[in-house]
Amino acid sequence: MSLIIKNGTIFTASDSFKADISIENEKITRIATHIEPNPGDEIIDATGLEIYPGGIDAHTHLDMPFMGTVTIDDFESGSRAAACGGTTTIIDFVIPEKGKSLHDALEIWMKKAQGKTAIDYSFHMALVEYNDRVANEIPEIIERGITSFKCFMAYKPSLYVDDYQLLEIFRLAKIYGALMSVHAENGDILVFTTKYLLEEGKKGPEWHDVAHPDIAEAESAHRAIILADYVGVPIYFVHTSSRLTLREIQKAKRKEKFVFCETCPQYLVLTNELYRRGGWEASKWVMSPPLRDKKSNDKLWAGIRDGFIDTVGTDHCSFNFVGQKELGRDVFTKIPNGIPAIEERVKILYSEGVMKGRISRNKFVEVVATNPAKIFGLYPQKGTIAIGSDADIVIFDPNKNGVISAKTHHMKVDYSAFEGLNIQGAPVYTISRGKVVAKDYKFVGDYAHGRFIPRKRFNLKEWGR
Ligand code: URP
Ligand code: ZN
Ligand code: ZN
Repeated sequence: MSLIIKNGTIFTASDSFKADISIENEKITRIATHIEPNPGDEIIDATGLEIYPGGIDAHTHLDMPFMGTVTIDDFESGSRAAACGGTTTIIDFVIPEKGKSLHDALEIWMKKAQGKTAIDYSFHMALVEYNDRVANEIPEIIERGITSFKCFMAYKPSLYVDDYQLLEIFRLAKIYGALMSVHAENGDILVFTTKYLLEEGKKGPEWHDVAHPDIAEAESAHRAIILADYVGVPIYFVHTSSRLTLREIQKAKRKEKFVFCETCPQYLVLTNELYRRGGWEASKWVMSPPLRDKKSNDKLWAGIRDGFIDTVGTDHCSFNFVGQKELGRDVFTKIPNGIPAIEERVKILYSEGVMKGRISRNKFVEVVATNPAKIFGLYPQKGTIAIGSDADIVIFDPNKNGVISAKTHHMKVDYSAFEGLNIQGAPVYTISRGKVVAKDYKFVGDYAHGRFIPRKRFNLKEWGR
């Protein structure tokens, strides 16, 4: 028995065409102008609808211990919300403690996800220190299909690595074929700025973005580009928030340095005015890097359009407004950093990007699905609509409107960072390996469906290097 999607318009990163799609055994088996169903085939009539590759969110933090608490969305609620929002694969971060084994941390994250995830998943590994044990474990971790690492240039002292450690880690990534990503914020600038804010009694959440100036992000991006280039390794910037950082990345890309750039929906549609409103409400948007100004929003959209920004992930890292964000009631440095976005990424990119004429439908596909798949070793199994690819598909109704709200979202977290944002166009079917997991914004999947997907190594030759 096949699942046949009829009469829709298919969009990939490079093409758009009207065709039917046939799905068997979790894969796309035929794409043709007309596919005649056999008795017993299941049919989705996609007349007037748009068919896209399922979204790939390469930046999530589910069930993650952080800043004295644990993110409220786990693999069940996070994957349910992702599915309802049009995402069919997530790449979550394993974050080991300093002094602990990478293998042990990976096992912990495997257990968190196994049997509890409605869509496919993979992992990045955070490297929070460099020593002989880490150096020995890196090749084995890559062997297990964890082919990308993240280092933090901020969060002193818990996650921070210094430049020497970065260089050693970059060297191993190059030797064994892993992609390096960095959290670019100069940790010392943050410590220095925070110290003087607190001395002046500036302790409320409205000071968080002042403590994380855009120059701290831009400086460390600049430095990471130079260090990575010196070692000869590509580098991926997660959660780029500021036009100053983008400018560093643009300069590097123009010089043909091997740099990838991710931004997130929050940096495209929200601004630091949300901190200026004052009051405890501002804690909802305490994340690192923080929200920036409207000028940065506009430059980031232009960066997507012009190909300087390669991907849009979420950095979904959700903490309840009541009970969890309150850990920092006395001082903003204790507010758990992060916002919920896993459910909203694809919708926001479609509504604010495609529907408002900022980006084409092909560019939308590129940044939400195809580029993350290519960069992180999932392509062409995922990230496109092609014969032989996994049948990971999201079907959009461009005429369906909605409003983002915590009252209707599928995440566990008790607030929405995008409350009240009008959405034009909505996913009406999300299909993961041939199984409908969300329909008409209702979750219809099951948590045993999602599989761990080991990823290919980062191969410089595939990128013409
Ligand atoms: O505020 C954030 N971004 N929290 C998650 C951890 C990280 O830096 O990605
Ligand atoms: Zn980060
Ligand atoms: Zn993150």
